Parts: sequence; structure tokens; C-alpha cells
Amino acid sequence: TSDLTVIMKQEVGKAAAAKVKSDSVVGLGTGSTTAYAIEYIGERLRSGDLKNIVGITTSFQGEVLARKYNIPLTTLDVVDHIDIAIDGADEVDPQKNLIKGGGAAHTQEKLVDSLAAQFIVVVDSNKLVDKLGSTFLLPVEVIPKAVMPVMRRLEQLGGKPELRMGIRKAGPVVTDQGNLVIDVKFDSIDDPATLEMTINNIPGVLENGLFVGVADLILVGEIIDGKAVVR
Ligand code: A5P
Repeated sequence: TSDLTVIMKQEVGKAAAAKVKSDSVVGLGTGSTTAYAIEYIGERLRSGDLKNIVGITTSFQGEVLARKYNIPLTTLDVVDHIDIAIDGADEVDPQKNLIKGGGAAHTQEKLVDSLAAQFIVVVDSNKLVDKLGSTFLLPVEVIPKAVMPVMRRLEQLGGKPELRMGIRKAGPVVTDQGNLVIDVKFDSIDDPATLEMTINNIPGVLENGLFVGVADLILVGEIIDGKAVVR
């Protein structure tokens, strides 16, 4: 990751953190961009600029960060609403539809992000695509026993599936829920809403990374004339 990409992620994370209001329930997403938003929320709490918020995390990573920055946490067993959620994405199309799950956290992310009254996506401009699936594989979380039948079904749907393997681990990536991830290459995703439902309807699939009609606002970090700007 280049220095400029880091700066873009920081600026967009900061811009999203600035939208959080006191006395609110905040969904805390996953990924390197959201990590900056969590850091700045923590900074606003520490300075007293922000008061009385509780976070709901979407991954182990979020829990660690929330603890690091002293953000109190709750769960969906306790609260019945989320005011605002901030989360990253791997691809964003012009209709604000997303591919998520590069961090294998899309199942909890979809749960939290779709419950939020306002869901803000934080990305750098490299994530913007005309059509979903053009640069990123579609992540699908499956229960371990379903890997082979789900892969065969995904092939019938025109995809090229591969089981996600760990980096510095001999074996597959295991999600926070103890499941596995199949990454699928589709030549072109023409109808994300239908594909999202079709894949989730395969027995053994827990959730896929298509987020259709969930995002309310996309904050994009960009470098213009050597400076990071957010639009
Ligand atoms: C996690 O599973 C993903 O959905 C992340 O939100 C997504 O990969 C974005 O991460 P970065 O901000 O690190 O690119």
C-alpha cells in the first residue's frame, strides 16, 4: 500500500467519524479504511467532542480496535436499533451496490450495516467500478461441509469458484463464525440483486458479499494534485 493510499484511507475514515453524533448506537465495520474511522471515533470520545455512544462490531478486528480506543460496545441482543454504521468495501458501483468480504467479515457486516438507519461506506477511489465483479472476486461464506456442493452449484451459475486459503497458514481461511470462504470469479455481474438472492438460496451458504441497496452514502478518498480529498 502506497503512502498516498494510506492518507486517502485516513482522510475518508476521519470524514466518516465526523458524522457520528453523541447518544447514538454505531455499527463498526471491518477493514483497513474503517480502522481509521474507529480510531477517530475514539479520539472524539477522548477529547469530549463525542459523548455516550455504544458500538456494535462486525468482526474480531473491530472488537480489538474498539477496546484499544476505549469505545464501549453492545450487541444486537441488547439494542434494537443502530443509528449509523461505517464500513469499507472492496468494490462500489454507480448504484451504490457493493462487493464486500475481502476480510471474510461480510456476514456480520451485512447484519449490522443493513440494520443501520444510515450506512456510510468508506473507500478510496480505487474501489469504484462501473460493474461489480470487474476487479474483485465475490466472497461466499459456507459451512465447512458444504464446500464441494456449493462450488459445483456456483460453477453451474457461471462462476469460477476457489476456496480461500490462508496467508502464513497451511489451510483455508476460517471466518469469525468458524466457516470457510469461497471466492468466485464471475465474468460480469449484470443483475447483483438476483445473484445475491440466488447464491444465498444455495443450501450450506451462509452469506455472500453482494450488498444491494444497503449503502446510503459513499465517502470516497481521492488524491488530487498530490493532496487527499474526500467527496
Ligand atoms: C471485510 O470483510 C470487508 O468487507 C472490508 O470491509 C473490505 O474488504 C474493505 O477493506 P479495506 O478498507 O481494508 O479495503
